[in-house]
Amino acid sequence: MRHFLKETDFTREEVAAVFATAASLKQGRGRFTPVPLDRQSWGLLFFKKSTRTRVSFQVGVHELGGQPVMLSADEMQLSRGESVADSARVLSRYLHGMVIRCYSHETLEDFVKHGTMPVVNALSDFLHPCQLYTDFFTLAERWCEGDTSKMGSCLRGRKIAFLGDTACNVANSFVLGCAHMGIELALSGPKGFEPGPEILAQLKKDGLKPTYTFTSDPVEAVRGADMVTTDVWVSMGMEAEKAERLRIMQPYQVNAALMKHAKPSAYFMHCLPAHPGEEVSLEVLEGPQSIVFDQAENRLHVQKAILSHLIGAR
Ligand code: CP
Ligand code: NVA
Repeated sequence: MRHFLKETDFTREEVAAVFATAASLKQGRGRFTPVPLDRQSWGLLFFKKSTRTRVSFQVGVHELGGQPVMLSADEMQLSRGESVADSARVLSRYLHGMVIRCYSHETLEDFVKHGTMPVVNALSDFLHPCQLYTDFFTLAERWCEGDTSKMGSCLRGRKIAFLGDTACNVANSFVLGCAHMGIELALSGPKGFEPGPEILAQLKKDGLKPTYTFTSDPVEAVRGADMVTTDVWVSMGMEAEKAERLRIMQPYQVNAALMKHAKPSAYFMHCLPAHPGEEVSLEVLEGPQSIVFDQAENRLHVQKAILSHLIGAR
């Protein structure tokens, strides 16, 4: 049985195959309907808020022929002290798979350990791999000129710049995903926000050489970039640090002046939700280089492809 908890759970070759499936599902949406989840029920369990992930997985499971079962942790016995181990064992008796958004990454690992069904990471404090695959797919659509056979390889050799909270889950996913796919990553955030020991240990475990650099100079990071991205400065669970974070991250706002240092052809991406005026200016978010809504749409197609590959269907 396979799980998708991190970017390296699919080999490079499999990532290319997932992208090809996503492209074909996107193109055929509403016209042809492969139903690999026929008669299956998938639990979508959320410990945190969500708009995109919740709805795209719900629609995606339905479109693949399955039934999505929406679960909020605060409405379950989990919130009254029932263990993850027991919940995983019970839910495995009803469901064919679980998609989980949680705080500690260990919650996902415990579901894998105690359950008997595939588990998908829909964001943890550590990683957001469904987002990262979607971001790479969205770039591959543009950089491979529609040739799906090249969708994995045409990312290699490009430069991505990530600004702001360079220690958050989405940044960690870029660190791992870029090393996996051979992409140069320039991180720029305040001192102390360098990639932490957990993500460095993961790179080592996967036998990957880091492809990132870290600088506190945002201009240096963005120079010559093919894509510039950022994330909220205050991730879910970090609310107590809000005032301090808004203060120290100011120099890392992605705005028009900063975008001038990237390649003229560079795209701006953001996993959303955005806070215009904080991590990105409204001008850049709404500007011609921004592809954030294509990116958001692609969550649906890429997640359908991930689910299909996980259960061995293409
Ligand atoms: N980007 C993303 O995961 O969005 P949601 O938090 O709305 O799911
Ligand atoms: N880093 C953000 C991503 C939201 C999709 C968070 O964890 O809140």
